Amino acid sequence: MELCVALDLPTKEQNLELVEKIKGYPIWLKVGFRSYIRDGKEFIHALKAINPEFKIFLDLKLYDIPNTMADAAESIMALGVDMFNVHASAGKIAMQTVMQRLSSYEKRPLVLAVTALTSFDEEEFRSVYNQDIASKADQFAKESYEAGLDGVVCSAFESASIKTITSANFATLTPGIRPFGEDAGDQKRVADIVMAKKQRVDFIVVGRPIYTAADPSALVAKILSQL
Ligand code: C5P
Repeated sequence: MELCVALDLPTKEQNLELVEKIKGYPIWLKVGFRSYIRDGKEFIHALKAINPEFKIFLDLKLYDIPNTMADAAESIMALGVDMFNVHASAGKIAMQTVMQRLSSYEKRPLVLAVTALTSFDEEEFRSVYNQDIASKADQFAKESYEAGLDGVVCSAFESASIKTITSANFATLTPGIRPFGEDAGDQKRVADIVMAKKQRVDFIVVGRPIYTAADPSALVAKILSQL
């Protein structure tokens, strides 16, 4: 299991300050919409300059027509990031087109699919997808596996069952992690490290517990010691 730290602080400077504190660890860093739109590729380069060994997960959740997604995937690859994601609801053909485009390169980033956004309740989800969340999320996971993606973003509680319907090697990345039972904040269902391990999660995403900790470095060390 690997640790991915969500860089969700309000400014580029604050994010870089946090990264400086945890620069000695073998970790992933998650760069989301806000910072990428605002701080661009220079931010990615700044992270790699702090420690070239950092792995970067660019969380942009692509959703568009197949060719446009493949074009974007190629541009993302040129940034030198190590993982990015797409919406499985863009369709199997779009996901296949992305993977096909990246296959011509010797080294490509990992590509994950978002199944169901956890912000949906059943009613709203049904109005968009005309199906219940659990069965549609399973279908999205299967389709992304069949399209050749490397894994999915999902809840820690779904990780083991997704591996059962796809493959043990199909990676799961799970937000909503409170490593040692820290405050859940606005997360509805949180899992700790013990649960994530039981569910055979590959990547845990941790944001607030780390950046609000009095000593983020000590907490990262403690988390890594438990993985
Ligand atoms: O601070 P916290 O640990 O809750 O941060 C979780 C991170 O994972 C945030 O960047 C959030 O946007 C992201 N995320 C999530 N739930 C999802 C997908 C992404 O919490 N379903």
